[in-house]
Amino acid sequence: MIRCDTTEAWAALSGHYEAHGRDLDLREAFARDPGRFGALSFAAPEVFADLSKNLLDAATLRFLLDLARECGLEAQRDAMLRGAPVNTTEGRAVLHTALRAPKGEGPFSAEVRAVLDAMLGYAERVRADDGLTDIVNIGIGGSDLGPQMVVPALDAFCHPGRRLHFVSNVDGHDIAPLLRRLDPQRTLFIVASKTFTTQETMANAAVARDWFVAGGGTDIARHFAATTTNVAAAAAFGISTTFGFWDWVGGRYSLWSAIGLPIAIAIGAENFRALLDGAHAMDRHFATAPLARNLPVLLGLLDVWYRNFHHFTSRSVAPYHQGLKRLPAYLQQLEMESNGKQVDLDGRALPFATSPVVWGEPGTNGQHAYFQMLHQGSDVIPVEFIVVKHPTHAHADLQAKLVANCLAQSQALMLGKSVDEARAETAPTASATLDREVLARHRRFPGNRPSTTFVLDALTPRALGALVAMYEHRVFTSGALWGIDSFDQWGVELGKALAGDLLPRLASGEVAGLDASTAGLLARLRR
Ligand code: F6P
Repeated sequence: MIRCDTTEAWAALSGHYEAHGRDLDLREAFARDPGRFGALSFAAPEVFADLSKNLLDAATLRFLLDLARECGLEAQRDAMLRGAPVNTTEGRAVLHTALRAPKGEGPFSAEVRAVLDAMLGYAERVRADDGLTDIVNIGIGGSDLGPQMVVPALDAFCHPGRRLHFVSNVDGHDIAPLLRRLDPQRTLFIVASKTFTTQETMANAAVARDWFVAGGGTDIARHFAATTTNVAAAAAFGISTTFGFWDWVGGRYSLWSAIGLPIAIAIGAENFRALLDGAHAMDRHFATAPLARNLPVLLGLLDVWYRNFHHFTSRSVAPYHQGLKRLPAYLQQLEMESNGKQVDLDGRALPFATSPVVWGEPGTNGQHAYFQMLHQGSDVIPVEFIVVKHPTHAHADLQAKLVANCLAQSQALMLGKSVDEARAETAPTASATLDREVLARHRRFPGNRPSTTFVLDALTPRALGALVAMYEHRVFTSGALWGIDSFDQWGVELGKALAGDLLPRLASGEVAGLDASTAGLLARLRR
C-alpha cells in the first residue's frame, strides 16, 4: 500500500492547488475553453457523466491520474477483483463483483450461480403465487438499504400484484403499523441478515413470527424465508427456506446476492439478471478502461481532490427521479461506512480527511428546502445531479419541468449572480426597510459552486445496476488512495456492545459504573 500523501504526485497536487487549483473559476474556464464540456464529459456503460462543472482542469486531472498510478490503484483494483484478501482487518476477500459475473466467469462462479438460480426460481414461484400478496423484508443496513432503494427505483418493472414492505428499525413504530395492515395468510416475511445475529433484525423477526402464529399461522416454511451466510442460525430460528451467501460479500455490497430476493420478487428473474448485467458492464469498464477515461476512477480522484485539497466536508446527491428517493440513504452507508476511517491499513493515524458526509433528497424537493444553503451558504458543497432522459410515465410536461429544474440548478450553482446583476434587477422600491444596495447583496449568488451531472437514458434494471456499481468502484478508488480498509466497519461495534450492557439496566435500574449523563437519562426513561 502506497498512501496518497507519501507520493510525489501528492506534493505536486499541493503545489498545483496553491498556484491554480484553489482559484479556478468555472465561468472563466468555460469562456477560455469552448471544448471544456467535451473534454470533461465521459461515457461509461449506461451512465453519461458531465464533470465539466467541477473545479478541475487538464493539469489537475494529470496530477490526480499520476496520484492514482503512484498509489498502485490498478494493482489494488486487480487484487480486489481476483479475490485477494483486501479486507485485511477481517482477513476477507471482497468479491461482490463475482456475484454479477457472467456464467462461468469470475471466482466462485459455480457457487454463485447455484444460489442465484435457486433464489430466482423461488422469486418466480412467489410471483406466481397469488396467495402471497405482501412481502416484508426484515433487515437493516446492507440487508435493507439496497432492496429498499432498488424496488421503488424500478417501480415500472414491478409485479403489480405484490406489495413490498421494508422493516428495519428496532423501534416498534416501524413494524407495528405495518402488521396492522397485513393478513398473516397472505404475507411472506424475508429475514435478511448476513450474520443472522443483528439485534434489530432478530427482534423484528421474532415479533413477526409471534404475530404470524397468533394470527393462526402454522406454515412457517411457506411464510418465512431467510437470506444469510449463517444458514444454521436461520434453521434454529425455524426457517427452512434459506438462500445463502458468503463472507466475501460485504453487507453494503450485498444487493446482488441473495439479499436481493425482495428485488427479484418485485421485478422478476429476467430483470434481476439485467440488474446484474448492468453492474457487470460497469465492472468491466472499471477493470479495463484507461484511468483517464475510467468513470469510477475519475470520480474517486475528484473526491480526493475535493476532500483533501479543497477541504469540502460533504457532498449532496440530488436525484431528479422520484424512484431514486432512497439513493442518498443507500449511498450514505456505501460511502460513509466504507470510507469513514481514521487509520490506514498499517494502523497509522491518517493526517488527512477521509469520507465526506453524503446526503440528499430527490429534486425538486431539495430545491425548496436546503438548496438555499447550497447556493448562498458559507460552505461549498459539491452537488451530484442524476437525471433520466426517458421517464416511464406519460406526463411529458412534468418531465420537461423536472429536467429544466435539474439543469437550472447546476447552472445557477456555477454562474451565480453578481451584486451588479442583483442591483440591476432590484427595483428601487423593492423593500420598505432596506436600501437597494443592501438588498442587492442579499440577492447575490457567489457562483463557482461545483456539480456533476449524471445522465441515464432510462432507469432500467441494467442502468441502475451500472449506476450503483459505478458508486461502489468510486468508493473503492478514494479508499485505495487513502490507504484504508474500505470493507470493515469496526466503528459500529462499540454502540452495539454498550446497548447490550444497558438493556438489562433498563429493567433493573442499576446505574453503577455509568457516567452521570447516561445514568440520569436511564433513570428518566424508566420512570
Ligand atoms: O452494524 C453495521 C452492519 O454490520 C452493516 O455493515 C450491515 O450491513 C448491517 O449491520 C446488517 O448486518 P446483518 O446483515 O449481519 O444483519
